[in-house]
Amino acid sequence: MRKPFIAGNWKMHMTAETGAALIKELAPLVKDANCDVAFCVPAILIPAMTEAAKGTNIAIGAENVHWEKEGAYTGEISCDMLLEYGVKYAIVGHSERRQYFGETDLGVNKRAKAALAAGITPIVCVGETLAERLAGSTEAVIREQMEVGLAEIEDITKVVIAYEPVWAIGTGVVATNEQAEETIAFIRSEIGRIFCPKCAENVIIQYGGSMNAANCRGLMAQPDIDGGLIGGASLTKDFAEIVNYDKPRTNG
Ligand code: PGA
Repeated sequence: MRKPFIAGNWKMHMTAETGAALIKELAPLVKDANCDVAFCVPAILIPAMTEAAKGTNIAIGAENVHWEKEGAYTGEISCDMLLEYGVKYAIVGHSERRQYFGETDLGVNKRAKAALAAGITPIVCVGETLAERLAGSTEAVIREQMEVGLAEIEDITKVVIAYEPVWAIGTGVVATNEQAEETIAFIRSEIGRIFCPKCAENVIIQYGGSMNAANCRGLMAQPDIDGGLIGGASLTKDFAEIVNYDKPRTNG
């Protein structure tokens, strides 16, 4: 009953030209997907990518969104600006935003609530650093990120959660199937504790961090993993292999 969801996160990659070319190339390859498919793209590419994805099953998302309707927030993007282009998703609290741009759990919470109020699905990222994992504090770190970042959210099933261990992002070191499943099962049980058991059953939780065409099948076979947030592998045709994780491979 949870529909899998595979989303690309282009980060600060692509141009209007290369992005549109990739979407045109991928559209026929992902058209029979049994999961929801999206690309979260740099804000300036949103108009061209929504145009390129028109008539396909590829939705376009943003990489962040601000909580205020408008105002003196240089460099930020509002929900209304995203809605003008039919944007359906916004990543919130990506570890790179936390690490390089000082984003906090409180800000994550404000962004997520604003997105929900506007009808945009926030993809809220949580995850531990290597030092935190080695110190045995993975669960404590994620519990704190969830308790603050998801506070006062009325319908948690409208949120997508992405578990992204920081040590796996962009490193080529993917979490093992067991590590990813164990932590995502913990996240689901926390949803049950903080919200309700039924919410826990229904909320979509993605894995992210060096997920690719070679390792996606093992990850997607785990009972609690409902999808992926894909960085590097969303910049090439490989993304179609991930979206089609439930079908025979086409390129060996
Ligand atoms: P990666 O990035 O797939 O390149 O590791 C994932 C992410 O940061 O969302």
